[in-house]
Amino acid sequence: MYSVMVNPGKITKAVSRYIYGHFIEHLGRCIYGGIYEEGSPLSDERGFRKDVMEAVKELKVPILRWPGGNFASNYHWEDGIGPKDQRPARFDLAWRSVETNRFGTDEYIEYCREIGAEPYICVNLGTGTLDEALRWLEYCNGEENTYYVNLRRKYGHMEPYGVKFWGIGNEMYGEWQVNHMNADEYAKIAKEYAKWMKVLDPSIKTVAVGCDDPEWNLRVLDVSGPHIDYISYHFYTGSEDYYETVSTVYLLKERLLGLKKLIDMSRVSQKRQIKIALDEWNVWYRVAEEGLEEPYELKDGLFACGVLITLQKMSDIVPIANLAQLVNALGAIHTESDGLYLTPVYKAFELLANHSGQNLVETHIETETYDIDGRMFFTKTPFELRDVPYIDASATVSVDGKKLYLAVVNYKKEDAVKVSITIKGMGEKIARAYVLSGPDVHARNSMDHPNVVDIVCEQIKVGSQFTHTFKPFSCTVIEIER
Ligand code: AHR
Repeated sequence: MYSVMVNPGKITKAVSRYIYGHFIEHLGRCIYGGIYEEGSPLSDERGFRKDVMEAVKELKVPILRWPGGNFASNYHWEDGIGPKDQRPARFDLAWRSVETNRFGTDEYIEYCREIGAEPYICVNLGTGTLDEALRWLEYCNGEENTYYVNLRRKYGHMEPYGVKFWGIGNEMYGEWQVNHMNADEYAKIAKEYAKWMKVLDPSIKTVAVGCDDPEWNLRVLDVSGPHIDYISYHFYTGSEDYYETVSTVYLLKERLLGLKKLIDMSRVSQKRQIKIALDEWNVWYRVAEEGLEEPYELKDGLFACGVLITLQKMSDIVPIANLAQLVNALGAIHTESDGLYLTPVYKAFELLANHSGQNLVETHIETETYDIDGRMFFTKTPFELRDVPYIDASATVSVDGKKLYLAVVNYKKEDAVKVSITIKGMGEKIARAYVLSGPDVHARNSMDHPNVVDIVCEQIKVGSQFTHTFKPFSCTVIEIER
């Protein structure tokens, strides 16, 4: 009934490391009071929260998107450079709050450098201009003797930042976006931005805005396709119901495959390979919470595990993904003035980003399934999913082939699941099994109880053929030295 067959010798594709990416936005307490808190005894002399930085470093974040999100569509980057006390405070239309601009481009780049993440900047297509985007790129990446390059040097940054990834606006299709547009307008503007930004720096990669509307996506692909490298997709899901939450891993998968089909249908597909950047995704349905501080539960962490396992298997189509978001606002990490705790969504990354290899190997899964009729929180659109798997798995190996990682998520809430596992050519060994779970699907961590949902490591016997019982509502990585 339940079986997993792995062939570690047969590499099927490389796993893009950027699928484990994150996103920080000037929203609520994500930046201020999250990763950056001047004057806090927990911060360093630059204002970076040291405890947050340590937790972030644990995840080895490969790519960090900034400054929004909706915020990007009314952000003027020049407000955020130079002496901090001279930077103007501005009213942010997106989240209706005051932006002090004390965390800007230089602080963001410094943060990326410190945590080892590739920066990914989203430019302002709402109240901004092409000129402003070009100046930002020049400030970051320029090497010539020009005004904005010299400004960066004047502020103490002699070497170019080499920002490779540039988002051409954020969710420009939506009424909630400052100066939103129709598909024709956006496609034309995105083309101009991507084209001229690449003239200034041909090494950059550009990400155009995609969405659930196939007409929008096709228009964007057809018109701006020659100048873009990725089309973005955003996915927010979840509800109080366990299966309605975790099953949407497969709704997301369907949507990504649908977008891939459109890419293949577009005119540009003959000439260039455009990929998908899932540059915002998470559980988000408790809108009433202040500053979007969702109190994540184990079920939300298992959804995240499912997404990461799915992305490991389709990272040739979706090589970039960014959890929205890293701290406090829809945050994987929750801070208070005197410390922090890690949510089940963080734990999903800790498990799968830290215990996985760079190459995907052949895997076959047999599982029981279920059907579900649910409703998407945001659009209120009903969804129907048939034959949703109770277990899912991916197997990856390290570059040198010496380590095998078998990740298995057991979504089944009611029972543990006994799985017959075959690993071709594997001798008998003791392996480590890292198990993410908790007392029930609604379990949460908190300041007082930070480890209710946690990863425990146990030793298990493995071989070419063995059975393993996976706990209900859990995700396990079996790590084997070969
Ligand atoms: O992540 C929160 C918000 O969700 C982002 O600002 C926006 O892009 C999306 O609608």
